[in-house]
Amino acid sequence: MKVATSVEQYRAVCAELRAEGGGLGLVPTMGALHRGHLALVAEARRRARHVAVSIFVNPTQFGPNEDLEKYPRPLERDLQLCREAGVSLAFTPSAAEMYAKDERTRVHVAGLTDALCGPFRPGHFDGVATIVTKLFAATGPALAVFGRKDYQQLQVVKRLARDLLLPLEIVGFPTVRDPDGLALSSRNAYLAPAERERALAIPRALARAQALHAEGERNAGRLRSAAEELVAAAATRIDYVSVADADELRPFADDAGVGERAVIAVAAFVGSTRLIDNAVFGEDSRVLSPG
Ligand code: PAJ
Repeated sequence: MKVATSVEQYRAVCAELRAEGGGLGLVPTMGALHRGHLALVAEARRRARHVAVSIFVNPTQFGPNEDLEKYPRPLERDLQLCREAGVSLAFTPSAAEMYAKDERTRVHVAGLTDALCGPFRPGHFDGVATIVTKLFAATGPALAVFGRKDYQQLQVVKRLARDLLLPLEIVGFPTVRDPDGLALSSRNAYLAPAERERALAIPRALARAQALHAEGERNAGRLRSAAEELVAAAATRIDYVSVADADELRPFADDAGVGERAVIAVAAFVGSTRLIDNAVFGEDSRVLSPG
């Protein structure tokens, strides 16, 4: 596995890998890699001969009171996991390498960022859209794999790739969970054991809504409040529990009817850790196996 720290080196190795034929796949990450990230790498390897993984804690997607400073950065361990996973190239740039001092450009995807996490994390999706666009430009991948765990992010990335005519395929990969249902996240490392137990309310809430939807419940408010009740009992604070259109991410009013396909998304704090999770009715398998 090669490791590049400058954009120039990274571009040069990407060009070599592309020249071999068979496709180059990209998996963008912020490191602190877990089985979820590694599942994306495996999916990219199924679809492309070579896989590049970027490991970069992107400052522009963190708000002033968020966890940029304390975000875990176990770089040597991450590189070892990448080697073991058959990654061809790891990209570990500094912030100065990705953002020139006098940089002025942001990528903004309108509409899709108005609801769910958008209002709670001003500027976050512009930061994500900008760094992802830069990574696409530096890599020239045939495809890039993103997790459905960050469902709004996945929709934003799909839309920017389409709108900017970027010549790559965006692949969404199902959320990888621990056996008890908790979605894997680098931020789970912040949870004390008792908090991790409380966090299980989130997958349980999604599972309850999935069960109701499967039984034929189509009222957005009843689906939403059935989930919210469970989250409220365990969370320190709820940012949102929303049932939204699965493509445009517009939340349904409580008295609206949802169709076969809609997303239920949750963002809530357990202690000081903000967790997000979601399930798409009519598309995702059950968050918890029934019974
Ligand atoms: P990060 O949180 O490190 O996640 C990197 C990728 O892994 C994202 O596509 C995310 O959706 C996916 N992922 C995380 N947990 C997952 C899980 N449990 N199952 C499946 N996929 C999972 O998301 C980011 O970094 C950043 O915003 C980034 C896209 C790298 C831009 O900075």
